[in-house]
Amino acid sequence: MLHRITSRTLRRKKQNGEKIVCLTAYDASFARLAENAGVDVLLVGDSLGNVIQGHATTLPVTMGQMLYHTVAVSRVCQNALVLADMPFLAYATVDLALVNAGRFLQKGGAHMVKLEGGTPQLEKVRRLTEEGIPVCGHLGLQPQSVHRTGYRTQGQDEDSARRIATEAQQLQEAGAVLLVLECVPFDLAQRISVSLAIPTIGIGAGPACDGQVLVLYDLLGITPPPRFAKDFLSGRGSIAEAITAYVVAVRAGTFPESDGR
Ligand code: KIV
Repeated sequence: MLHRITSRTLRRKKQNGEKIVCLTAYDASFARLAENAGVDVLLVGDSLGNVIQGHATTLPVTMGQMLYHTVAVSRVCQNALVLADMPFLAYATVDLALVNAGRFLQKGGAHMVKLEGGTPQLEKVRRLTEEGIPVCGHLGLQPQSVHRTGYRTQGQDEDSARRIATEAQQLQEAGAVLLVLECVPFDLAQRISVSLAIPTIGIGAGPACDGQVLVLYDLLGITPPPRFAKDFLSGRGSIAEAITAYVVAVRAGTFPESDGR
């Protein structure tokens, strides 16, 4: 019998040096394929605003839409951990964060929620953790802040690198059990990954993170690929084979390579 992957499983994988495989999923059919291929964490990402709804940013995505997709994924998922992305403004206050994270677990069937940002989120991470809601942080490029930062690598100068490293520690202390690092310099991601007890999941953050995540549609070469993504469907006969190849490459440490691809 299969056992549900939990934050404890993920931490054990980090301790054992086993890479964690995460992939976005927005519906039941792809969730099944990903789970059967051995993906550990299914992220119902607000990237669905881009790849499913056709928006230029994730900002228009609502709680109702996120819940709809989270239910579709969690309904068929028996083993992988379902991580639901809190959409823009759904965690603007501690109270709002608690209500909406609660909806993800109670109605959506999610096992963990993810929120973008460091210092402004610490109080919320503490509160959710106190209520038994596992939280994943998200530092580096934060797509919900695109109008402030643009879509560019974060932490390139010493001050901002130090700030990201400090926020990573603070998120861990506040109770976060997982941390996504998006588009940060590879050496910074490595430093943070080594310094934290909780696992890091990288995207455009190099090979030293404890795991990797990709947007499913980037992995399938459907979307114009970001420079750090790879089309795993190219040269393979089916979507299932492509996802399996991604799982194998992450576990073997061959994706991403040291040049980020
Ligand atoms: O929404 C999403 O898919 C994400 C990943 C890019 C980490 O947050």
